[in-house]
Amino acid sequence: MIFDILTIFPDFFRSPLEGGILRRGIEAGLISVNPVNLRDFTSDRHRTVDDRPFGGGEGMVMKPEPILKALDSLQISPLDAKVILMSPRGRVFNQSIAAELSVERRLVIICGRYEGVDQRISDHCVDMELSIGDYVLSGGEAAALVVMEAVGRLIPGVLGCEDSARNDSFSNGILEYPQYTRPRRFRGWEVPPVLLSGDHAAIARWRRREALKATLRRRPDLLGKAKLDPEDLRLLDGLKEERP
Ligand code: ADE
Repeated sequence: MIFDILTIFPDFFRSPLEGGILRRGIEAGLISVNPVNLRDFTSDRHRTVDDRPFGGGEGMVMKPEPILKALDSLQISPLDAKVILMSPRGRVFNQSIAAELSVERRLVIICGRYEGVDQRISDHCVDMELSIGDYVLSGGEAAALVVMEAVGRLIPGVLGCEDSARNDSFSNGILEYPQYTRPRRFRGWEVPPVLLSGDHAAIARWRRREALKATLRRRPDLLGKAKLDPEDLRLLDGLKEERP
């Protein structure tokens, strides 16, 4: 997967790419990240990427020319890549969008700044606008990093163990069960005994119930869309009877 990141802060991505999952993917030859400095595609002495909005108002708007020139420089064909604009007006990013994007060969991510990006870029050059949540950041760089990390870890071979992506919270529509590690007893707090029992079927049942319980208590909105079997529904009925 190639990530081309169009930004006025290419250095923003340096440190996150030096460690963690993205670096692993890069070293394994599964991911390549290409930060593109939009200022390299300006033609004035001040390397201007923004201008005042038509119609007046506060703030500055990112000019279309540097973005279009940067896109042209990548020489991508529409079949080869998806062009994404990070924007608080976009579709709200989630695990299923991450999975959808992880099968692409190339993602071009445009990081907006200032009050926004000239709408003609969005109308004519972008396949998808993405938001990472209902809040406003000063720019799309941090959001682009979130998307790269969530998508990158779904690319086969990037995570050490494929199972760890499959069991993640959200991957089957509900939250993950709680995890414990050594020591067995810590400040008097015990690990749930079933996890020490060696009974794999009982552990799997406990984990499913805890995953459903966490989802019911913390994110009941997810249950409507989750893939639940009759046993899950029976467990949920029991959990609804319980006092939190
Ligand atoms: N740029 C500014 N705010 C954003 C958000 N919430 N998501 C994506 N890009 C943004």
